[in-house]
Amino acid sequence: MLWLTRQYLLAEVQAGMILARPIVSGDRNILLNENTVLTQTTLDLLKAWGVQSLHIKEIIREDGVNAYGFVAGREKFLARYEENILVLKDVFETARYLREAPVKKIEALADRTVDMLSGATGVISHLSSLPPADDYTLRHSLNVGILAGLLGRWRKVGIKTLREVVLAGLLHDIGKTQVPLEILNSPGPLSAAEMAIMQQHPVRGYKLLEDNDRLAQSVKFAVLQHHERLDGSGYPAALAGDAIADYARLIAVTDMYDAMTSSQVYREAFTPFASAAEIFAMFDKLDPAVALPFIANIRDAMIGRMVKLSDGTEARVIYLDTERLSRPVVRLARGGYVDLEKRRDLTITGLVAG
Ligand SMILES: [Fe+2]
Repeated sequence: MLWLTRQYLLAEVQAGMILARPIVSGDRNILLNENTVLTQTTLDLLKAWGVQSLHIKEIIREDGVNAYGFVAGREKFLARYEENILVLKDVFETARYLREAPVKKIEALADRTVDMLSGATGVISHLSSLPPADDYTLRHSLNVGILAGLLGRWRKVGIKTLREVVLAGLLHDIGKTQVPLEILNSPGPLSAAEMAIMQQHPVRGYKLLEDNDRLAQSVKFAVLQHHERLDGSGYPAALAGDAIADYARLIAVTDMYDAMTSSQVYREAFTPFASAAEIFAMFDKLDPAVALPFIANIRDAMIGRMVKLSDGTEARVIYLDTERLSRPVVRLARGGYVDLEKRRDLTITGLVAG
């Protein structure tokens, strides 16, 4: 039996979950021991004690899913996802045709996105199981909003920051509504002139939002700077280092991850393993304070997953090191273990549903 320890906010914990670490009081008394099965009464006590978060044991079942909240959570998550896509579609169409950003609507959507994250386990897996769709910009924007929210939670930010980073994720590409559709949806490679127009989308997005007093300046900067890179290789202003705003660094990582894990006109989708490995390799361009916790959480989400290997066999991920994310140790469905670090002829080609 495989176990995984994951930290939850108290509000997300349900009766029946099992404590992975003891709860210790300020004066070092053990309040609840490891392996305690939580009941509603113990949850009420934890709340009264002011416990904010706790470590829960998750069992990786034989079918590869985490035993808590995953199956029921997935359907609910996907239903909310599709509802939110419809709201975002309306927002982006208003931006394209009326040249204004309906900020109140976007704020309500950010709240709904934050709600999607509470109590939802397996969000990374849910996102990686979404079917390909043709409304790429919309889905990408929602995905980046969700990922930014997850990353915010992993970094234990407060609710105000959480809401702002989700807003920044939802809005980061709103400037694409100002790019002509024939360029945005071009099936082939863009010409240099078309590329220059496309690369103006952060500026166009910023201009749409600039005069809105409701939106925090930090959110507007995230929109303007999400393609800037720490080594100065980004656009539109080739900013470097500290000149790049905090939220922009956060959106840069989540934006790259979602772009890589989505299939594009010109290439197949990368697996979460390969995408996280690519992000790890970009340490000179991305902020490690953002990229490393992000990668660590992708790794946690992928442990126990069934994957397909390049020789057509299926296997379960058993061990995954942050520094060699695309080459885990796997247990083959037909039996036996393989260390992909040593078997360089094999790669992971995809996730197996379930
Ligand atoms: Fe962008």
